[in-house]
Amino acid sequence: MPLVPMRQVLDEAAKGGYGVGAFNVNNLEQIQAIMEAARETKSPVIIQASRGARKYAHDRFLYHLMIAATEIYPEIPVVLHLDHGNSVETCKSAIEMGFTSVMMDGSLMPDGKTPSTFEYNVKVTREVVEMAHAKGVTVEGEIGCLGGIEDGHGAGLDGLSHLTDPDQAEEFVKLTGVDALAVAIGTSHGAYKFTKKPTGETLRMDRLIEIHKRIPNTHLVMHGSSSVPKELQDIVNQYGGKLKPTWGVPIEEIQLGIRNGVRKINVDTDNRLAITGAIRKVFMEHPEEFDPRAYLKPAREAMKKVVMERMIAFGQAGHAGDYEPIPLSVMAERYAAAAV
Ligand code: G3H
Ligand code: 13P
Ligand code: ZN
Repeated sequence: MPLVPMRQVLDEAAKGGYGVGAFNVNNLEQIQAIMEAARETKSPVIIQASRGARKYAHDRFLYHLMIAATEIYPEIPVVLHLDHGNSVETCKSAIEMGFTSVMMDGSLMPDGKTPSTFEYNVKVTREVVEMAHAKGVTVEGEIGCLGGIEDGHGAGLDGLSHLTDPDQAEEFVKLTGVDALAVAIGTSHGAYKFTKKPTGETLRMDRLIEIHKRIPNTHLVMHGSSSVPKELQDIVNQYGGKLKPTWGVPIEEIQLGIRNGVRKINVDTDNRLAITGAIRKVFMEHPEEFDPRAYLKPAREAMKKVVMERMIAFGQAGHAGDYEPIPLSVMAERYAAAAV
């Protein structure tokens, strides 16, 4: 099965009322962990690479690893998605490389830090939509800036002003034609999202529900959705790590999101923690070991376990065989005919 356009995977998820995890990768073992988890749970998957990942692994390595994944796991629909594209150019290079979906994160300027204006965001996102849809490639946009509410970290803004404004979300979708929209509701990237279990004050699911009511046909995306489970933190710390106590996004809140239009859930940190914990364990228990396979294999297993748990919790498990992939050329025709 060729790489699949993300729009199809999200449309199917909307029909079936489930969510699809989007897992970040940088290397062979992470791709293998996700594909094994997908096979075992019969799940469609979204595999995403950040700009950092593309730089670390090199585009062509990533692309060919992904093609290998489609050959070895022909029964699994797989999307290759660009995570947090910072400019039209970055998205263009990903499309040329064969990504079937791109995120144009115009909520920030190309430095990836400075919040942008609504007008700038619309302009760059619209440009990417035109370029991507002509090739059948899916586009995710973002409105509002990711970041915690407790301390206004993330985008460096105070209070609630960085959260997605429902009026703006509606206007943004109308003006850009994005397939999917990332919303800011108080989540942030990394391990340190909340200093205690999030409440309705710090994780604004009410805002997400309001946005869904305004744009019921746009697939919503939750970034910063690692749950940062205590068990994973404990393994890292038990074997010499120094993580400070922290809370992530509870699975039940993600499930509430899925009941309210969330179709793509971004998870990276939980897998990083699982990998690091497994490697630390081998290093501490077997200091004589120096064959990388001795620690990469348990690391891959630990990540596979986390991914399987998420696939089951998000509801994508069991849906791999529901549909045949739509070729990008057919998607392009549908966009041109405004039939999607
Ligand atoms: O967007 C955040 C993802 O966790 C990717 O992180 O930019 O360090 O590859 P990265
Ligand atoms: P986490 O850091 O919560 O895993 O979020 C990842 C993410 O949003 C990637 O875009
Ligand atoms: Zn993100």
